[in-house]
Amino acid sequence: MLALKVPKKIANEVRKVLIEKSLMNLNLKIKPESDFVFIPLDEKLHDESNLIEIMTDSGFHGFETVDTEFESLKRAPRSMTEYLKDKLNEKEIEDLKKSFDIIGDVVILEIPEELQQHKKIIGEAALKFTKRKAVYMKSSAIKGVIRTREMEHLAGEDVSETIHQEYGCRLLMDVKNVYFSPRLATERRRVADRTVNGEIVLDMFAGVGPFSILIAREKSVKIYAVDINPSAYDYLKRNIELNKVQNKVIPLLGDVADMVSQEKIKADRIIMNLPGTACEFLGVAMDAIKEGGVIHYYEFSSDYDTAIKRLEDAANPRKVEILEKRKVKSRSPGQWHIVVDARVF
Ligand SMILES: C[S@@+](CC[C@H](N)C(=O)[O-])C[C@H]1O[C@@H](n2cnc3c(N)ncnc32)[C@H](O)[C@@H]1O
Repeated sequence: MLALKVPKKIANEVRKVLIEKSLMNLNLKIKPESDFVFIPLDEKLHDESNLIEIMTDSGFHGFETVDTEFESLKRAPRSMTEYLKDKLNEKEIEDLKKSFDIIGDVVILEIPEELQQHKKIIGEAALKFTKRKAVYMKSSAIKGVIRTREMEHLAGEDVSETIHQEYGCRLLMDVKNVYFSPRLATERRRVADRTVNGEIVLDMFAGVGPFSILIAREKSVKIYAVDINPSAYDYLKRNIELNKVQNKVIPLLGDVADMVSQEKIKADRIIMNLPGTACEFLGVAMDAIKEGGVIHYYEFSSDYDTAIKRLEDAANPRKVEILEKRKVKSRSPGQWHIVVDARVF
């Protein structure tokens, strides 16, 4: 291996120049010998005159190049890609990285069937490179009325309760017992921005409160936040306190259809973030929306037409004006979690 023989006392200066000019082999150990050191040169260096010229320009003269053996430098992998490169190909690693959800101190991964044999090392890599406390793997689809999934612990502590920070809100939750997606943050920001001071808001499927709490922290409003999952309701109450919005958010446990009639709720704005089955609650929403009020209606769909038609049918004989429509996030190829904002009058 080609090396530059350099007097020890200026070795550090020379090393810096070689690194800066990409002329040093960083995978090998510099070798000392009496008053000299041998600095390994990059394997791609074929033209020694170029090296001499660079060294002369940097004020160093009269070094000789020699052929010698070096020890390899054992260094820890610096990235998740490097850590997993012997087990997974580049595409598999990139796909895995896209599957990461980070909620507070918890990382949640989706590992495809063909990579299950490597799940522990993938979990360790995720722990190491995200610097979070716990790593879980999704082990079932989201299911049931309360929209939760099974999770398998892979690495770090087996602690699934955490505090997630989003736009200044602190959201406490147990990721195993409640639904929460950090990928909806931009949508929550958008809905909070659309909300007007003085409004009464109904968050029909509130979960641990991410929509309600963000709106309440920023606007002068009254919000009814409803959820049917006792665990989500419990965290919702704690999050209301944690974010000091007790005077704005009213937590309610139960089926939103019952809550709307029981509390006689009439709202200027309704959030219907239950994309799989929100359509079944459009009648409840139409009963609760005030004249000129706005509904943020969510669905899983490949287009907006079905959602708009459902809104129009449910509003009939009243009319709806479509204010905005957007893709919130991708669900599966060709399928989106969409939102349509409609004014009812
Ligand atoms: C998709 S999650 C949305 C949670 C929250 N909005 C968020 O962004 O994290 C839907 C929530 O609706 C709740 N839910 C389902 N059916 C319900 C019903 N009939 N009445 C009230 N809440 C319901 C579930 O427990 C779940 O927490």
